[in-house]
Amino acid sequence: MGTNEQPTLILKDIHKSFGKNKVLNGISIEVNRGELVTFVGPSGCGKTTLLRIIGGFTEHDSGEVILDGRSIGHLPPNLRDTRICFQNYALFPHLTVGENLAYGLKIKKWDKKKIQERVDELLTLVQLEGFKDRMIDKMSGGQQQRVAFARALAYSPKVLLLDEPISNLDANLRILMRDEIRRLQTELYITTVFVTHDQFEAMAISDKIVVLSDGYIQQVGSPIEIYDHPVNEFIASFVGYVNFLDAKIDSIKKETSAAVVSTEYGKLELDIEQAEFVSGDDVLLVIRPETIQIAPSNGMVRQNVIQGTLKRYIYTGALAKCHVMLGDREIIVDIHDPRDHVPLRENDKVEVTISRNVHVLKRQGSGPADT
Ligand SMILES: Nc1ncnc2c1ncn2[C@@H]1O[C@H](COP(=O)(O)OP(=O)(O)O)[C@@H](O)[C@H]1O
Ligand SMILES: [Mg+2]
Repeated sequence: MGTNEQPTLILKDIHKSFGKNKVLNGISIEVNRGELVTFVGPSGCGKTTLLRIIGGFTEHDSGEVILDGRSIGHLPPNLRDTRICFQNYALFPHLTVGENLAYGLKIKKWDKKKIQERVDELLTLVQLEGFKDRMIDKMSGGQQQRVAFARALAYSPKVLLLDEPISNLDANLRILMRDEIRRLQTELYITTVFVTHDQFEAMAISDKIVVLSDGYIQQVGSPIEIYDHPVNEFIASFVGYVNFLDAKIDSIKKETSAAVVSTEYGKLELDIEQAEFVSGDDVLLVIRPETIQIAPSNGMVRQNVIQGTLKRYIYTGALAKCHVMLGDREIIVDIHDPRDHVPLRENDKVEVTISRNVHVLKRQGSGPADT
């Protein structure tokens, strides 16, 4: 993607209320060409509303929708170069697969031969060759999902809008379709806005994730940024498990960004973004279970090592989950490939080592900078 290229889709300060219910409180976001951007957030947080506003099915109260540099917020859906795939697919049950795919093209007055060619092409694309003459209601959920997806692609929109396209499928099929949508989206290089309530789906499919909650954007970032550098507690707990530990910054070495923090278990040495913190700050350490080392205790005092007791050991094959008591606080430690690990038994005295690279959040209400 050229760095000078303007974003394909820009949302500028979108507001939307239904009566007294303020659903969107100033949503601004840019989607670059070929990107798959996911809106993720709990049910009812306004994801569908936002997608409908982009597609022209719901009117926003204020703000701008810009597609390829042109403001399109006033245009009806059929005059926008966007296509939406609704959560319930909205296929015509009394028409065949082929007729469903041809429908929009007929309205666009394509000629018959061209329509049939395109329908065949779409069927190949979603691996439904041979199903052209089957009625929609004789297709399985997964097959209907493919038809809905193909129909949205029928005349190559500039932006594809997908509203929880795979949420109605069962778990295995969901993963299969997720990976297939991503593969096609990348291959076709089609700019896509994807909506889901499933954090793991968002992580797996997205170039960029937009986390929504209470009508606001909590964070925008790549899956790695969201996971490794969450901006607040909400985001930190949003994907996967985290152990939170209160701490206070004792000192920061300017040259190396090494900080000493004190916790209820003693002092830890960490590498932190020194620009963001000063001595005396109250902080929260965001410690992922897979970043903690665990071993039988040998009682020696060492840097970043905390003594504890193994309360539960849950073996799940590729992973063992250790519930460790540090005093009266329980933390979770993951051991990957546990067969290669020193054996541990419940009630063993253990020691855990905290990585120098844990993510550090400023305690809300502590200090000025909160950007
Ligand atoms: N047409 C509508 N009229 C009134 N309220 C609506 C309408 N559409 C959505 N809402 C409300 O807006 C909020 C967001 O809904 P929605 O965008 O569907 O959330 P999501 O897709 O994230 O689950 C909900 O509180 C919902 O009840
Ligand atoms: Mg929805």
